[in-house]
Amino acid sequence: MTLQEQVRKAFGRHAGTYEQRASLQRAVAWRLARHCRELPLVAGPCADLGAGSGLLSRAVQQLRPSLQPLRLDLCAELLHQGARDGGESLLWDLNTGLPPQLENASLLVSSFALQWLECPQDQLEHWCRRLAPGGWLVLAVPTAGSFPQWLQAAAGARGPCSALPLPEAGALVHGAQRHLKLKAQRRLRFSRFAPTALTFLRQIQALGAGSTPAAPLTPGQWRRLEAAWPAEPTLSPAGRPRKLLTWEVLVLIGQRPAPSPWRQAGTVA
Ligand SMILES: C[S@@+](CC[C@H](N)C(=O)[O-])C[C@H]1O[C@@H](n2cnc3c(N)ncnc32)[C@H](O)[C@@H]1O
Repeated sequence: MTLQEQVRKAFGRHAGTYEQRASLQRAVAWRLARHCRELPLVAGPCADLGAGSGLLSRAVQQLRPSLQPLRLDLCAELLHQGARDGGESLLWDLNTGLPPQLENASLLVSSFALQWLECPQDQLEHWCRRLAPGGWLVLAVPTAGSFPQWLQAAAGARGPCSALPLPEAGALVHGAQRHLKLKAQRRLRFSRFAPTALTFLRQIQALGAGSTPAAPLTPGQWRRLEAAWPAEPTLSPAGRPRKLLTWEVLVLIGQRPAPSPWRQAGTVA
């Protein structure tokens, strides 16, 4: 099975409980939606790329009711979850680029989806090129600075790290800057505690986000990883040891420059 097929099936299996568990995605969706509220938009289509159940498009619609982003996703079950609030959706594989109806888009939003694509940087540049002059990209994506504890524990355990490889924030910023004037670029950090490292993995899997090109760890590898993952110096409110996992999320907001109304005059000899 290809990774993309794994990704689609895993999100599909957990679609019914996605929104209950997606607290980080919900928080980031509202943060992006607040940015969308103020943007001066040109005419053109608007879409949520990798929309899933519609956390982001719904937040955008609530804060700016005139906008109804078209929801694109590979996973029919997640799109179906969002269908109750009436948003228009399209079953679409973003690895194939954007559909023709998003030519000259006025606003493309995307949250926690770009990292699942085969070539995130190429697709990001493609999204930028599909904006109308004056169109906006509003993006959040977890990046390679995520999961430092996991990487260190894997190195300490002399074993593989089975986390999904995430795109480098610097490369994404650089790619976007080739097409857009960036109005904001932030690297946000979100951390979560859990009693064990295995709990983190189970939480990620329960969201449907556990697919990875890496081979699954053997029970022995997990035991060594767990042992190498340091407990936090502070105890949980219940007085128990706990471990930490951190996500680095790149937020990018940029506008495709409108062509200058001034044409350069020819030089006169
Ligand atoms: C973690 S979810 C995020 C969903 C939503 N944006 C949110 O913030 O809740 C990642 C989404 O990316 C979608 N996705 C992954 N690969 C995709 C692809 N090749 N084409 C379209 N969607 C894809 C998944 O189906 C899933 O809905």
